[in-house]
Amino acid sequence: VRTWIGRKGRGNSFVPMTMTNLIEVAGNALKTGAPDVEHLYELSKRRQWNASDLPWDSLDFSVVPLELRQGFADLLAQTHHGELGALTASARLVQSDARLMDKLFGATQVADEARHVEWFSRLLFQLGTPAPVMPALAAFIDDVTQAGDDLHLLVGMNILIEGLAQTLMLHAGKLLGAIEVPELESFKVVGTWLTERVAADESRHLAFGIGRVRALVETLDARRRHQLEDRVLRWALQLMELTREHSAGVATFGLDGDALMARCMADTQSRLKLTGIALQLA
Ligand SMILES: [Fe+2]
Ligand SMILES: [Fe+2]
Repeated sequence: VRTWIGRKGRGNSFVPMTMTNLIEVAGNALKTGAPDVEHLYELSKRRQWNASDLPWDSLDFSVVPLELRQGFADLLAQTHHGELGALTASARLVQSDARLMDKLFGATQVADEARHVEWFSRLLFQLGTPAPVMPALAAFIDDVTQAGDDLHLLVGMNILIEGLAQTLMLHAGKLLGAIEVPELESFKVVGTWLTERVAADESRHLAFGIGRVRALVETLDARRRHQLEDRVLRWALQLMELTREHSAGVATFGLDGDALMARCMADTQSRLKLTGIALQLA
């Protein structure tokens, strides 16, 4: 069964798998596949949720002070853009995954990311406060989603970006979900959905990414390992810098920006270590 390794320079071009390959993949996949991925795939199927089930019309942010609403919209706009990138990346990986079980899990990730794009779109609409996507963030997401090497794409998206999203969503969700002010009930509803649904999906994507990357990293020769590490170090530092630019904004929500940054760095480093990529970020 072919893997991503050694299939460089394709950019975003679609490479159709031949029928022979597909039969080979289908024949090998379920018996040689990773039990971890099978488990994750089962979880994914069982834990699909519908963004339409949130009572959107009952959300009311009109009583929320403008500064808080603006800060929230700003964070959501960046996340929304990241979700669009995740949708693009996961759809691309489904095309190139060599193993059937990876394709099946990947397809559930595509559905998850589509739901996240819908969820954040509806939330931004409901908030009614325009917020631009930072050009540097947009450029970063483009750089990752257009990576010529699928392994780089997988590390950039499933480990770095999704990992950071998970850390931030869990923090923000916990904070918003604990709000006991009646006028801020809408924040509480959003926080609970963020933790129990969106971040829970991201945890599966992260788990899949870690397992897949670890298996692939083990097969790399020294040259390709260096290439990967160089790219990942550059991306990780860029991502931390982008997060730092926003860490002041989280103070609006009563969060300690420096502590959150330290947490993001530590989480990112330990996730990379789990994949077999040992990098010193700080
Ligand atoms: Fe997502
Ligand atoms: Fe995701």
